[in-house]
Amino acid sequence: MPEMAFVNDVFLPLSEARVSVEDRGFQFGDGIYELLRVYAGVPFHLTDHLGRLEQSAREIGIPLPYPRDRWVAVIAEAVSRSGFPDAKVYIQVTRGVAPRDHVPAGPMTPTVVVTVRAMTPPDPRLYATGADVVTVADIRWARCNVKVIGLLANVLAKQQARERGAVEALFVRDGSVLEGSTSNVLTVQNRCLVTPPEGPLLLPGVTRKVVLGLAQGAGVAVKEQPVTEDELSASDEIFLTGTTIEVLPVVRVNGRAIGTGSPGPVTRLLMARFREARG
Ligand code: PDD
Repeated sequence: MPEMAFVNDVFLPLSEARVSVEDRGFQFGDGIYELLRVYAGVPFHLTDHLGRLEQSAREIGIPLPYPRDRWVAVIAEAVSRSGFPDAKVYIQVTRGVAPRDHVPAGPMTPTVVVTVRAMTPPDPRLYATGADVVTVADIRWARCNVKVIGLLANVLAKQQARERGAVEALFVRDGSVLEGSTSNVLTVQNRCLVTPPEGPLLLPGVTRKVVLGLAQGAGVAVKEQPVTEDELSASDEIFLTGTTIEVLPVVRVNGRAIGTGSPGPVTRLLMARFREARG
């Protein structure tokens, strides 16, 4: 089964997909992206992902070349051509191709890339035992709500996590814990789910939103309010949400145990509810 790509209106095997070295995505990181999952052939919360793609495009002034129904059709065809029932779909739109100049000379045609790859879920043992995370200084720009392709700070943070034996790095700015390098962070404090509110300093995660809805449906109180680094360490439970990791329990922060040191009851409830919801 081939890994598929769609580049500017053409479907082709991923290994044959090419874009110009003069693409502004390559030159400047001038572009936006989305990553979504396909479970048993069905894209998960596609409308939310496309809504966020449109919002990111508006935020940085890239005119999206396709209306919503065309994106849906392209993704459906790419998934069907790949034949992977469980897949990850990556969408990237850059401002386009032009001689390198910070300000483009005139109107541009955006570059569109969609890829479909098989999804290998993370090690199930991690969900049983819970993961280690570390905290790092947030050196990113101040518009982290826009899903831009310039991810150097996230890459360095994730590398630091790996070097410190952890699976994720949580960004801390002015004493506040904001999100992970590829995930949102949620805590349980006195039986209440507490997570940093949406705003310019974190990505409004699709999985986060789904999980907050599931928590409310299960009668768990939800508060979207700032979480300090001290509150994080003193939490009863912590977990991460994200398209690739779904709901992942965290049991240690910077080497120190959280709660009982194993995945807690609210986390386990939401992991189960999420698995039901995704089918
Ligand atoms: N990242 N915060 C950041 C910085 C992220 O990069 C991601 C996802 C999330 C979670 O968002 P969602 O639930 O919509 O996937 C939060 C994707 C998976 C990535 O960059 O690969």
